[in-house]
Amino acid sequence: MTESPDLRLFVNIDHVATVRQARRTDEPDPVRAAVLVELAGADGITVHLRADRRHIQDRDVRVLAETLRTPMNLELATVEEIVAIGLEVRPAQITVVPETREEITTEGGLDLATDEAVDRVRAVVDRFREIGTRTSLFIDPERSAIDASVRVGADAVELHTGEYANARTTEERDLQIERLVRATEEARARGLDVHAGHGLTYENVAPVAAIPEIEELNIGHSMMSRAILVGLETAVIDMRQILDRARP
Ligand code: PXP
Repeated sequence: MTESPDLRLFVNIDHVATVRQARRTDEPDPVRAAVLVELAGADGITVHLRADRRHIQDRDVRVLAETLRTPMNLELATVEEIVAIGLEVRPAQITVVPETREEITTEGGLDLATDEAVDRVRAVVDRFREIGTRTSLFIDPERSAIDASVRVGADAVELHTGEYANARTTEERDLQIERLVRATEEARARGLDVHAGHGLTYENVAPVAAIPEIEELNIGHSMMSRAILVGLETAVIDMRQILDRARP
């Protein structure tokens, strides 16, 4: 039997910037938040530089790239202006995500259904690979998306856990976990590392964390929401404890 990899906790701090942008001021500062999140034991920091700049700004990405002590996972769409900033700051990892202006948050995995879409994502992945950045694709837990991710040549896939998070009945939740388990096994069998994220909370994360071959979770909204009440340090420690219990 192969041993499960350790489970890395990457904390998405976009919503620190959301609060700041609500007043277009200089606080709270995501860079300061990142320091506290790192000190509390997170394995990495995730930020999404959106084309509409609704939360994280270019300067945040640049300053974080210079100051983080843990790996940065930069989420980006295949938008040239954003890709150029990514290449400039040389993050440890990128996650390619879909993006539409109307959405409240990322709504689904990448659409890789056409050769054109695969080529567009592959072109971005190739440029980051050249500078030594690890590459991941945010996809729905579907075989077709895994096949397309292999064609793109990414190092990893991040399985979209949104449908699991939105499940309202035990049966539906069980079905979504089975779907994530199957997709994890398929992706591993095809040589892809597996991450997961979106909509994960203190209440629903344990069954996902228990899937043995998932290596990394990306969690944002729920942790920032708790941090407003109990502080960033406690929010990170509480999540870490749940992950450690799920993956002894
Ligand atoms: N993974 C990806 C690709 C995302 O786009 C997001 C949201 O920015 C997350 C994970 C984190 O989702 P949540 O904020 O719901 O934890």
